Amino acid sequence: MAEQIETVSGEPAWVGEHDQADHYLHLQDANIVGTRALLTCQDNLDDVIEAAAMACMHGSAGFGKSLAVNASLRALAPHNTVRVVFRSRPTTRDIRHALFHGLHLPGQPPGHPIEFDRLLKAALADRFRVLVCDEAQWMSRECFEYWRHLWDDPSTQIAVVFVGGGDCYRVLSREPMLASRIYLWQRFRKMEPEEILSVIPAFHPVWSEAPDQLISYADLHAGHGNFRNWARITNHVLQARRRGGADLDADLLKWIFSRLGGG
Ligand SMILES: Nc1ncnc2c1ncn2[C@@H]1O[C@H](COP(=O)(O)OP(=O)(O)O)[C@@H](O)[C@H]1O
Ligand SMILES: [Mg+2]
Repeated sequence: MAEQIETVSGEPAWVGEHDQADHYLHLQDANIVGTRALLTCQDNLDDVIEAAAMACMHGSAGFGKSLAVNASLRALAPHNTVRVVFRSRPTTRDIRHALFHGLHLPGQPPGHPIEFDRLLKAALADRFRVLVCDEAQWMSRECFEYWRHLWDDPSTQIAVVFVGGGDCYRVLSREPMLASRIYLWQRFRKMEPEEILSVIPAFHPVWSEAPDQLISYADLHAGHGNFRNWARITNHVLQARRRGGADLDADLLKWIFSRLGGG
């Protein structure tokens, strides 16, 4: 579904693919908002693609890293992005296999690493691609080295984007061989209270008419400037409404905080 992305000023940032699966719990009717972080991410990735470089997008969980990278690349490189995500500590073998599938290579994955690398490099030399390695905090030094090895090869035409939590930054920045090759770093931070007041009403119709005071109250007690927290709160509001048309007020929010363990 092609959709406009809401910017906090109300101007559409770009027209791109908006995928409901971007949202935590597939939150119904949620918009992608052009937050400062997302707009910066789009500019940064534009430069990274132009330079065919390596980049690292890092910051704590829920700050909108994956969504910003995915939404940006749907607009910037819709036909040449390969995204791999690891949910636990991968090995270089896992990376080879993830790329084999991500690149839709035919046949069976080769059994021998040397043969495998030859195949992957040939595929990555074929045309330019952006490789996104999400949840990169799970990767060992050896795994980062593997990406570097692919990127360093003169035949491959790739940009590599690491997306991950704080550990990703620590591991990468500790390795001069790698860190010196990272062209650009973007740190995602929590949204400040004033940004929350412009972002949240554009995020979901539930909040579009809500008084600032109520939004600030929800942010202070449960949102904490973290987008995933806000998606969670919003889903609780929707469920409460489905159950009986509850008004969005401080009482409803207090009940939601109690469900979130937010006191
Ligand atoms: N710019 C945005 N516009 C709308 N919703 C967002 C935005 N950024 C994050 N979200 C919401 O917050 C959730 C968590 O964001 P995500 O990118 O997965 O965080 P991270 O990768 O930093 O852990 C998303 O699933 C989405 O519901
Ligand atoms: Mg993520």
